[in-house]
Amino acid sequence: MTAFFRGRRLRSGSAMRELVRENSLRASDLIMPYFVLESAGRGIRKPIDSMPGQFQLSLDELDEQAAKAAGMGLKACILFGIPARKDPLASGAYAKDGIVQQAAARLKKRHGDKLIVIADTCLCEYTSHGHCGTLAPGDRQGLVLNDPTLALLARTALSQAEAGADIIAPSDMMDGRVAAIRQALDANGFDQVPVMSYAVKYASAFYGPFREAAESAPQSGDRRSYQMDPPNAREALREARADLDEGADMLIVKPAGPYLDIVRQVRDRCPVPIAAYQVSGEYSMIKAAAQNGWINEREVILESLIGIKRAGADMIINYFSEYLLENKLAG
Ligand code: PBG
Repeated sequence: MTAFFRGRRLRSGSAMRELVRENSLRASDLIMPYFVLESAGRGIRKPIDSMPGQFQLSLDELDEQAAKAAGMGLKACILFGIPARKDPLASGAYAKDGIVQQAAARLKKRHGDKLIVIADTCLCEYTSHGHCGTLAPGDRQGLVLNDPTLALLARTALSQAEAGADIIAPSDMMDGRVAAIRQALDANGFDQVPVMSYAVKYASAFYGPFREAAESAPQSGDRRSYQMDPPNAREALREARADLDEGADMLIVKPAGPYLDIVRQVRDRCPVPIAAYQVSGEYSMIKAAAQNGWINEREVILESLIGIKRAGADMIINYFSEYLLENKLAG
């Protein structure tokens, strides 16, 4: 009888499967997002209804929670701020004592090199209208202005670096922002601070729960004039190339699960570290189905994340990071 392929030989038991396993989740792959609330109060942990298990944290609570996570092996986190006040020019984003600036300084002071603090650089959490840039006046009202926004983003990035952020991660999708940010950092002595750009960010409905979490839903209109159109793949490569040309050190693809083809294509064409962001909606869908008893939560979490690694991501920004570490599910 002719020999045929017997794939089952290498699936016979768990040790054998482990021996031939191609991809794995490591603690150092994980980046945990935190929502930091600007408040005079202490001890605040405000549950985010659409993201069970996630909270808006006051500074002291963030400090506690991140220390616990670092103790379990967390190596990196990304910070989102919820300011006490919002205005049309997002002044809270670049205030010296802005909430992300305070949080970054506090975490760096406590952890030094042991915990990488990434600052999400965007204006939408800080603008009264909820857009990621400034708005045109008069009849062009509603138009998100590109070039005037660049100066504010550069200012935000610089103040985050001054506060101690290790990595600047612009997520606004204005054209030319990586160059503007790089220039501002370099001109002020932060030439060693890397930019991890959300180069490929789609206008996704999967961000829904995040907008509750970060209180950043646009008051009118949507983000489709600056975030990418979901049917497009070639454009992703154009965006990735542009950001690398402007000086990005690493790239982010976002969301992750519905865009694994994009993760793979960017991985194959761009010789830099690639992160994928398993966004709020991806998290919430798993949590909701699990709460209904419809799926095995642990297994689905692991499968969703290893799929992102297999697609080629080096790092995964995801809300399950602490869960994985707590349950020793990442090596
Ligand atoms: C800010 C930003 C968003 C997310 C990360 N940074 C929201 C948006 O663009 O509306 C989404 C993250 C998530 O859904 O988990 N621009």
